[in-house]
Amino acid sequence: MTQFDLTGRKALVTGAARGIGAAIAEALAKAGASVMVADVLADEGRATVARLTALGATAGFVQLDVTQDDGWAKASEATVRELGGFDILVNNAGIEITSLMVDVQAADLRRMCDVNVVGTALGIKHAFRAMRPGGGAGKGGVVVNIASVAATIAFPAIAGYSATKSAVDRITRVAAMESGKLGYGVRVNCIYPGLVPTTMGMQLANDIVSAGLAPSVEAAVGDVIAQTPLGRLGEVGDMADAVVFMCSDASRFITGAGLPVDGGMGM
Ligand SMILES: NC(=O)c1ccc[n+]([C@@H]2O[C@H](COP(=O)([O-])OP(=O)(O)OC[C@H]3O[C@@H](n4cnc5c(N)ncnc54)[C@H](O)[C@@H]3O)[C@@H](O)[C@H]2O)c1
Repeated sequence: MTQFDLTGRKALVTGAARGIGAAIAEALAKAGASVMVADVLADEGRATVARLTALGATAGFVQLDVTQDDGWAKASEATVRELGGFDILVNNAGIEITSLMVDVQAADLRRMCDVNVVGTALGIKHAFRAMRPGGGAGKGGVVVNIASVAATIAFPAIAGYSATKSAVDRITRVAAMESGKLGYGVRVNCIYPGLVPTTMGMQLANDIVSAGLAPSVEAAVGDVIAQTPLGRLGEVGDMADAVVFMCSDASRFITGAGLPVDGGMGM
């Protein structure tokens, strides 16, 4: 178990106000890390911080819209200043706007690109600047990007979202390559979650019904479970545990990799 211990590590988790990000923040804290919760949602973000401090962890909140370069610079500085370093970045913030191809809207596609792709790339930029030798933290570290099973299979009505998550997958590889070649000492990996019944996951199930692809939410969820060899939906804790592994020394020789956490749905 000691290889999963994150005592003394300083982490920033985006989109940690709720859902998968909140579970990741909690799992990192339970593994011993100090955690900066970053989100556009201030009240919910501070509630996550209160849960982490109740666990005995050091935690703080920074309001961050991941699409904003200057916001990232401030969030990175706040992490180093308030936690005393910056060793782990989890790029979890994301949005999904469901649409059949015949109905796609340019504004929706651009918004998903902005949050999911630009947001992830800017996060890596500022993590690398802080973590590489000579940076504000300067001790190397780990980046984990939250992609999706949608980057690995064709699922109807989420073409734009799937494209952005495929982009996250590619960005992960290039960032890992640059970090290795330039001696930054930062490993970069991603996970591909299957469907998790968070706000986003349940909205997708509802949208699948609205798009005429399933007669009911129960049927939509049942279709996903039927496509999943392990026979259930994902839970936020399933994702959080995989992220702890990717952040820990147990994965010390893994970089530029994508780990499916989908019950086998994407195999
Ligand atoms: N739920 C699923 O089924 C599922 C499956 C695969 C991948 N994912 C991915 O997991 C991640 C978390 O999803 P979730 O299900 O917890 O979603 P969620 O909607 O429940 O939570 C997303 C969080 O991200 C925050 N956020 C959104 N835009 C932001 C921005 N511009 N800047 C900062 N924060 C922002 C939201 O405020 C929210 O707290 C996302 O990247 C999502 O694409 C989710």
